[in-house]
Amino acid sequence: MKPKLLVARPTFPSVIDALSVHFEVTSNQTDTAWTPDSWKLAIGQHDAALTTGSDPINAMVLGTHPRLKMVANMAVGYNNFDVPAMTALGVTASNTPDVLTETTADFGFALLMATARRMTESEHYLRAGHWKQWRYDMFAGAEVHGSTLGILGMGRIGQAIARRGAHGFGMKVIYHNRTQLSPELEADCKAEYVSKEALLRTADHVMLVLPYSAQAHHTVGATELSLMKPTATLVNIARGGIVDDAALAQALASGQIAAAGLDVFEGEPALNPALLTVPNVVLTPHIASATLKTRLAMAQLAADNLVAFFTEGKALTPLNQLAKSASA
Ligand code: GLV
Repeated sequence: MKPKLLVARPTFPSVIDALSVHFEVTSNQTDTAWTPDSWKLAIGQHDAALTTGSDPINAMVLGTHPRLKMVANMAVGYNNFDVPAMTALGVTASNTPDVLTETTADFGFALLMATARRMTESEHYLRAGHWKQWRYDMFAGAEVHGSTLGILGMGRIGQAIARRGAHGFGMKVIYHNRTQLSPELEADCKAEYVSKEALLRTADHVMLVLPYSAQAHHTVGATELSLMKPTATLVNIARGGIVDDAALAQALASGQIAAAGLDVFEGEPALNPALLTVPNVVLTPHIASATLKTRLAMAQLAADNLVAFFTEGKALTPLNQLAKSASA
């Protein structure tokens, strides 16, 4: 008997086909996220699940004696998982590191450029038929090349963004992170370690790439925004909740900072309505890793994790180490 696998959201048919060789697959083909109660019910009947970063796997959903043995997240971020609760209940967790690093860094840079150079604002102006004449200061934005890029969170994606800034755009790169990079990595990224406060005060562009955790909640709020230059831009490709979106909308409306680019939001897919009322913000629907090639690589890695765990007893990119390998 094949183990039963629940695929939480639509994914590539080729990945479902590959999984069907090893699992009896139930796949949600609707685009409706399940409620925690439906999750709880579904989990009770499955040995494994393939989730996206918006599907919650926590103690409430797992119950006390879950049948579930493994959950593979099709995302590098895993704040939707309560990993300690999963570990305590013998549930292996995995994510999809590495395969999305460069694609996500490309997008972070695209969002930075769109924000600094006011691309969305100017496109809306053009589409609305307001463009009558060339004007010397029309949509004059902030310089990107040669400016100072401040990166908060210097993991793989932060480093890939630093390389783009330093080597491609001649930017001075400063960063803050829980731990300082090795001298070799700092040299490779041409990045200088500074305090969070120094970063906020001196960066022309602040890029957020840190993982979400309770400690990282509102890493950028009213106080931090007040430290930034009035000409500065803020880009969030990390997670909703890292920025206090209400405070940000206020800072954008009052001109406390120049502009923001946001790919992630508190409570997404809902948005703080105040963000829709300010023109100097570029908004995208959590698509930083969205190229077909990368999304396929993420889905494939999630699937490979499940197959490796159920055939060999060990996931490829696990988030927890269980005391003894769960019998698959
Ligand atoms: C996307 O946000 C991811 O964590 O992969």
